[in-house]
Amino acid sequence: MSLALVTGASFGLGAEFADQLAARGHDLVLVARSRDRLEETAERLRTAHGVQTHVVPQDLAEPDAADRVAHELSARGLTVDVLVNNAGLGTCGRFEEIDPRREHDQVMVNVVALVDLTHALLPGMLARGSGAVLNVSSVAGYQPSPYFAVYSATKTFVLNFSLALREEYRGRGITVTALCPGPVETRFFDTIGRRAAVGSFTTPEPVVRAALRALDRDRAYVTPGLSNQVVAHLTPRRPRTLVAAITKRITRPALEPEPAAQPATT
Ligand SMILES: NC(=O)c1ccc[n+]([C@@H]2O[C@H](COP(=O)([O-])OP(=O)(O)OC[C@H]3O[C@@H](n4cnc5c(N)ncnc54)[C@H](OP(=O)(O)O)[C@@H]3O)[C@@H](O)[C@H]2O)c1
Repeated sequence: MSLALVTGASFGLGAEFADQLAARGHDLVLVARSRDRLEETAERLRTAHGVQTHVVPQDLAEPDAADRVAHELSARGLTVDVLVNNAGLGTCGRFEEIDPRREHDQVMVNVVALVDLTHALLPGMLARGSGAVLNVSSVAGYQPSPYFAVYSATKTFVLNFSLALREEYRGRGITVTALCPGPVETRFFDTIGRRAAVGSFTTPEPVVRAALRALDRDRAYVTPGLSNQVVAHLTPRRPRTLVAAITKRITRPALEPEPAAQPATT
C-alpha cells in the first residue's frame, strides 16, 4: 500500500488531505507540532479506513526539521511514495510592523522545510521510478501582494519551484503538482488576525478533492474555484510594478483592525 506524508496534518487543509488520502487507502505519516491532534487524527483514520498511520511531531521552523523527519522515517523503516508539503503560515500588515521572528518562521516553514523535505524524499522516489509531490502554494503566489509581502513571495517560490521540478523530472515517474487555493475556511486567517478582510471562503473538502484529482492527472498546478481561476489566469502579469500597485488596492483593507467580537446574547 502506498504511503503518503502530509505536513501540517493537524488542522485545516492538511487534516483534510489526511482524511481523503486515508479514504483512498493510503497509509499515512502525519507531521505538525500539535502531537495530540495528530494522534487523535491517526487513531480515527486507522479505525475508519484500516490504514496504518504514523505520527511525527515536528516544528518545521527548526533549521534541521527535515533531517529529523527523515531520520524518524528511516528509524521506523518507512518509505514515502506521496509527499504533501502543506504546512504553512501567513503574516499580514505593514512590513515594518510585523514581528521579524514570525516572518523568519514563515520562510522556514513555507520555503525551507518544503525544499529540505523534497530533497530528503525525492531521491528515493527517483530510485524507485515512482512518486508524487504536491506542494501547497496559493492564489497569493501569482502576484506580489503588498501587506502580504513575505507570504505572497513564499507562495510564488512554491509555485515556481514546483513548476521547475516538474519539468526536471518529466518522464522519470515523478509527478509534481502545485495547489493554489483562494481563501479556505481554516484557522489560517484567524492566526494572522485578518478574517474580516476576506469576502468569502470555501471549505477544505472541495479544495483537497481538486488537488488530489490534479495529482492523479499529473497537472502542473490547480486553482480550485471559478473566481480564483479568474485571478490565476486573467490577471495581467506585467508590467510588474503596475500589478503590485493594483494588488495593493485589493489587499489594503486587510490593514483595517478586525471588528470586535459581539458579546453572546442569552
Ligand atoms: N486557508 C487559506 O485561505 C489558504 C489559502 C491558500 C493557501 N493556503 C495554504 O494552505 C496551507 C495549509 O493552511 P491552512 O489553511 O490549513 O491553515 P491552518 O488551519 O492554520 O493549518 C496550518 C497547518 O500548518 C501547520 N504548521 C504551522 N506552523 C508549523 C510549524 N512551525 N511546524 C509544523 N507545522 C506547522 C499547523 O500545525 P501545528 O500548528 O500543529 O504545528 C497546521 O496543521 C498553508 O501552506 C497555507 O499557506 C491556505
